[in-house]
Amino acid sequence: MAPARPATPAPPGRMPAMIERQLGAARLRAARRGDAAGIARVHVEAWRATYAGVLPDGFLAGLSVPEHTARWTRMLGRRSDSALVVKDAEEGIVGFGSAGPARTDALPAGGWQGEIYTLYLLTDWQGRGLGRALIHGLFDRLAHAGMERIALWVVAGTPTRFFYEAMGGRLIARRSEPFAGIMLDELAYGWRLDQQQGEGA
Ligand SMILES: CC(C)(COP(=O)(O)OP(=O)(O)OC[C@H]1O[C@@H](n2cnc3c(N)ncnc32)[C@H](O)[C@@H]1OP(=O)(O)O)[C@@H](O)C(=O)NCCC(=O)NCCS
Repeated sequence: MAPARPATPAPPGRMPAMIERQLGAARLRAARRGDAAGIARVHVEAWRATYAGVLPDGFLAGLSVPEHTARWTRMLGRRSDSALVVKDAEEGIVGFGSAGPARTDALPAGGWQGEIYTLYLLTDWQGRGLGRALIHGLFDRLAHAGMERIALWVVAGTPTRFFYEAMGGRLIARRSEPFAGIMLDELAYGWRLDQQQGEGA
């Protein structure tokens, strides 16, 4: 997923959706500032696993947990954004996702209001329904803030697009942009939550 860019403020005045719930041994809950280091660890590990062979090895090797901890500390302080974590009692944070106002003008017409910025699980925690729980939690938070047309960008060379298709996303755009010294192909998926009651998104 593309690097974070500054977000514009969300519509004020609405309470966050209640998403906290137990998922087997792990708990889904809103991220707190003190989660920054745990999120950064998952972020770096998941990027290395997900983008091996897609992004340059040197770029992946250079990802730094302390740098990402600092970035996540800043991001968790922004009121307009929502971040959720999945935390295991023994292993700590094993997955996270973040979302907020759509940041990009690169999306096609469609009035896209909200964007999923990140969604990552450690490899051992994938395939257990946690990704579904995270993305639905983010959808709930965005819908609660009045954003029902949601989009995201996904790197084209990973299987993750099929997860988004399983979640009811529709392919809405493609782009190729310079990133980490290569041209990176990405796909955008969109959800119209106002039109998807009962469709599983
Ligand atoms: C993408 C990711 C968040 C999905 O989470 P997950 O917990 O593995 O997925 P779930 O177990 O919740 O799967 C939900 C559904 O999607 C399907 N699905 C998940 N990944 C899939 C894939 N690669 N291809 C096809 N279907 C997939 C599952 O089969 C499941 O369908 P079902 O309920 O009908 O059985 C997780 O695999 C991940 O972190 N991947 C690496 C990082 C990444 O690519 N992040 C996205 C950056 S844009």
